[in-house]
Amino acid sequence: MIKQQLEAMLQQAQDALTGADSEAALQEVRVRFLGRKGELTAIMKEMGQLSSEDRPLIGALANRIKEELERTIDVRGEALRRAEISRRLVSERIDVTLPGRRSFAGSKHPITLVAEEIGEIFTSLGFAVEEGPEVEKDFYNFEALNIPKDHPARDMQDTFYISDEVVLRTHTSPVQVRTMLQQPPPVRVIAPGTVYRRDSDITHSPMFHQIEGFWVDRGITFGDLKGVLTAFVTQFFGNGVGVRFRPSFFPFTEPSAEVDIQCVICGGKGCRVCKNSGWLEILGSGMIDPEVFRSVNYDPELYTGFAFGMGLERIAMLKYGVSDLRLFFDNDVRFLRQFGV
Ligand code: PHE
Repeated sequence: MIKQQLEAMLQQAQDALTGADSEAALQEVRVRFLGRKGELTAIMKEMGQLSSEDRPLIGALANRIKEELERTIDVRGEALRRAEISRRLVSERIDVTLPGRRSFAGSKHPITLVAEEIGEIFTSLGFAVEEGPEVEKDFYNFEALNIPKDHPARDMQDTFYISDEVVLRTHTSPVQVRTMLQQPPPVRVIAPGTVYRRDSDITHSPMFHQIEGFWVDRGITFGDLKGVLTAFVTQFFGNGVGVRFRPSFFPFTEPSAEVDIQCVICGGKGCRVCKNSGWLEILGSGMIDPEVFRSVNYDPELYTGFAFGMGLERIAMLKYGVSDLRLFFDNDVRFLRQFGV
């Protein structure tokens, strides 16, 4: 009788285990059948009624049933844990073949890019690169360039004065003077650098950049100036862009000319950017004034030369179609990274 009860209980327990689909359900089965108040204990309480021959047999059977159930619970538990791990491996899978997010490695500032490109064009034409100080003596910035103290041209360039004799250079032209004082002719030099003027609005920044260029030798003519600057415009802005030389004035060149290119925005038809003229000014230039040669001890009877100076921000705005000068100084990476290569 007890034997049948035990076997029926084993059957029930095994059925319950097959249906148990969680760790908690397994524990419930364990408590229900093997716990201190469980069914096995209840059946075993009836052992007293058994004969002394049957008792050890039934006792052994009960032990086997207990062991078997415990083993089944362990095996089942292990299977559930494995299934859980497999489930998580699938659901939490990371696709390592997906491309990662690239980090931004940085890029050159558009002003640097423009300076480098202009530098390459002129070095390929035989120009060497020179530099001068940004804190400059009045002599180099003005005096030697034929701009005496009371000269009205000083008002054209609102100057930051450090002292009576020291200024923040208002243009890169003082590098002309420094170079010619150090090197005998012929000289063929470009000089990129930062310059300063007391000027600040949408189209002017108190700090900006220029590239100066000059070529001095025997027999240099205005034709050389036109040839070199036209070659530059063609290389930098592309073939077919119109160039014109418009008479102008600078104290350190005579004659002087400003160079215009056909508007890169409207192609010369006239628009807001070129103020409907079809032309954009890109640089100042001219034949170096004999007065400048006298300041640097070059013989103006033997030597002639031309010089030019251009603003890099302006050139960069035209080249890249940037409409606000301030973008070059804000250093917003969303702007800068567009120039990455
Ligand atoms: N230095 C002049 C300027 O800043 C440009 C220039 C340079 C003009 C050389 C003529 C010759 O406007």
